[in-house]
Amino acid sequence: MDRYEPLRRRTIALVGLMGVGKSSVGRRLATALCLPFRDADVEVEAAAGRSIPDIFAELGEPAFRAGERRVIGRLLEGPPHVLATGGGAFIDPVTRALIKARAISVWLKCDLEILARRVGRKDSRPLLAGKDPLEVLRAQAEVRYPAYAEADIAVQTGDTAHHVTVDQVIRALSAHLGEPAE
Ligand code: S3P
Repeated sequence: MDRYEPLRRRTIALVGLMGVGKSSVGRRLATALCLPFRDADVEVEAAAGRSIPDIFAELGEPAFRAGERRVIGRLLEGPPHVLATGGGAFIDPVTRALIKARAISVWLKCDLEILARRVGRKDSRPLLAGKDPLEVLRAQAEVRYPAYAEADIAVQTGDTAHHVTVDQVIRALSAHLGEPAE
């Protein structure tokens, strides 16, 4: 048995605000643990046959959330993997309950100023379109942090390289499972 075997028994779901690195950290975490990686946003886009901005514009946010629920429910029925969720997924009570029942949830936290700088460079997020990113993130933090706080583990990240966060997450997971990290 290798040292990461205990970390491969359940799906690891990354939750947290936009820009915190759920997808980029998740992909690297999956590689480090030899687990498959799934990105809920990408799977929702594939299921809907259109991009997230188009889903929001053409079908509306409630339809996006319903799709997100279905997709995450389906993924969680499959074998263990690292799952990057979209920032709002863990706020939906049904999706949150699914994740809590079938995965280890990890809240990636980061200063809002750092997140605002990161998300400001992209225009693929409909909730930010035409708005001040820091204001949106502050409002989201107020509403969402109580839900994110229900995650099994919280990991504070910063403006560091992704591999540093991956190491932090692996240590936190090992501690949560009562396993030595190395
Ligand atoms: C959203 C975050 C996005 C995406 C959608 C809605 C949110 O995912 O699911 O635009 O509600 O915070 P990321 O967190 O990967 O940006």
